[in-house]
Amino acid sequence: MPAAQKPFSCNVDVTTPAANLPRHVAIIMDGNGRWANQRGLPRLEGHRAGAESVRAIVRACGELGIGYLTLYAFSSENWSRPKAEVSALMHLLEFYLQREVAELDKSNVRLAAIGRIHELPESAQRQLQKGIEALRKNNGLTLVLALSYGGRAEIVDAVRSIARDVKTGALDIADINEDSISQRLYTRDIPDPDLLVRTSGEMRVSNFLLWQVSYAEIHVTDTLWPDFRKPQLLAAIDDYSKRQRRFGGVAPNEA
Ligand code: IPE
Ligand code: IPE
Ligand code: MG
Repeated sequence: MPAAQKPFSCNVDVTTPAANLPRHVAIIMDGNGRWANQRGLPRLEGHRAGAESVRAIVRACGELGIGYLTLYAFSSENWSRPKAEVSALMHLLEFYLQREVAELDKSNVRLAAIGRIHELPESAQRQLQKGIEALRKNNGLTLVLALSYGGRAEIVDAVRSIARDVKTGALDIADINEDSISQRLYTRDIPDPDLLVRTSGEMRVSNFLLWQVSYAEIHVTDTLWPDFRKPQLLAAIDDYSKRQRRFGGVAPNEA
């Protein structure tokens, strides 16, 4: 039985015995700037504190036996932020990778990245590749970092790949189906998210995993990302465990 399908067990009050852990949790980590503003600090301090939440949530997901954790760390649109903030975020990414890989390895975490990775500074790309390589053989939690990621850009890239294959004759138009698209997304090897969390209260998806979240359960919390730690994660999972997923069908007791 895959770890993700193990019966739900953690120290939150889960009343439904059949409640299951989500196999894949995806998080829009939002609110670092507001967290810093509230304290009269520069935005960068919010991003630094946010990196500590990343550590805590990765560890907690590993301990819970969650299969995949995708973190929206930098969007295609985030390039439009002031140069100094973009550069600080890139440095923070490199610093995080440098500092955490040994710890991730100890926790049996595998690393993957989605997005237009070639758009990142070369030193960040190198650090990322090094981390992915060092953790390749692990088989615990897969941590997926969404970097220079945009859901629309991802679909554009998939459409280009399909068009190329149609042009060379490798793919017949009549054979294009949902699978042909899924298999050309950056997430081709990753199951769709079961639970989508957004911190800091905004009710929008901000171009995150547009195709993949079709049937994800959504949990929005007012907690700002730097304040989102294990108890808030457990609350999100508790919320998820009470949802009835129907995938367009009818509830089992009505079938
Ligand atoms: C999320 O926090 C981090 C990134 C988008 C990189 P924000 O920086 O968006 O924080 P707010 O939304 O301004 O509070
Ligand atoms: C979404 O947050 C992107 C990331 C968390 C990386 P934003 O702060 O960029 O989203 P908007 O601008 O509020 O929609
Ligand atoms: Mg934001």
